[in-house]
Amino acid sequence: MVAETQLTPADLIAPLFVREGITEPQAIASLPGVVQHTRASMVAEAKELVALGIPAVVLFGVPEHKDAEGSGASDPDGIVQLAIADLRDAFGDELVVIADLCLDEYTDHGHCGLVTPEGTVDNDATLDRYAEVAIAQAEAGVDIVAPSGMMDGQVAAIRDALDEEEFGDVAILAYAAKYASALYGPFRDAVDVEIVGGGDRKAYQQDPANVRESLEEVRADVMEGADLIMVKPALAYLDVIAKVRAEHDLPVAAYHVSGEYAMIKAAAANGWIDGHLVAMEHLTSIKRAGADLILTYLAREAAEALGA
Ligand code: PBG
Repeated sequence: MVAETQLTPADLIAPLFVREGITEPQAIASLPGVVQHTRASMVAEAKELVALGIPAVVLFGVPEHKDAEGSGASDPDGIVQLAIADLRDAFGDELVVIADLCLDEYTDHGHCGLVTPEGTVDNDATLDRYAEVAIAQAEAGVDIVAPSGMMDGQVAAIRDALDEEEFGDVAILAYAAKYASALYGPFRDAVDVEIVGGGDRKAYQQDPANVRESLEEVRADVMEGADLIMVKPALAYLDVIAKVRAEHDLPVAAYHVSGEYAMIKAAAANGWIDGHLVAMEHLTSIKRAGADLILTYLAREAAEALGA
């Protein structure tokens, strides 16, 4: 009766991995309960999520072949484009289809952008690739593109490209304050990404020590035309979520990332915590901090517990 915060299935967005060239779903060791889907198993899973009252999924593709330009990301026959079309056909307007927009799943070097011969990420050349990916995803029928590469100017470049091609209705969920976190490890297993030479993303993602810098990043994305803004990861950055909420009126999303999920599952498997109770506590706290939407591998489990 006096609870100030209500978590509902409508707050949750389920990440789904879809992998090219497999005939059966593949388990992901570091993400127990999450799989790399075939196109068919992805549609079946989405059907159950819709029945549970979950309004949206965010798609990540795992291509069979990777190259320097990440060409699979914008190929009309690339795995994510096919998956978007499958969901659009199966659900129409019943499901909001979001696609992660990045190159790292598709590049052989594992960076989120194009890499110069010297090995640094080329911000501006990458923007042209992001524009191509956005158009490919829009042509496949996506509702929302979610650029996650943290290149400067990415939201403006994508907005311009979409508008030019008459995709003004495609919205942008900007990974606006995305930290260079150690919590993405299990995700990189899920998408088979290894950054070349043991590199990291500290040149383009945020420093965990900083919050003012992140607020600037969010402001830039809002000015460039973001429709929804995201903070990632979630739990270690509840202060960032709260500050973004206080400053902006756009919907705020938070990504409870792979490492956050894996820590719960690993401790629970050891009998050290009650995994389900901790999961619900995490999600409620993220909402209390100010997130309207939570991207989480716990979406199904939480929605089952909450009831539609
Ligand atoms: C980049 C991307 C990453 C995640 C979402 N989009 C990985 C990264 O930045 O290295 C991480 C999500 C998670 O850990 O659950 N395409």
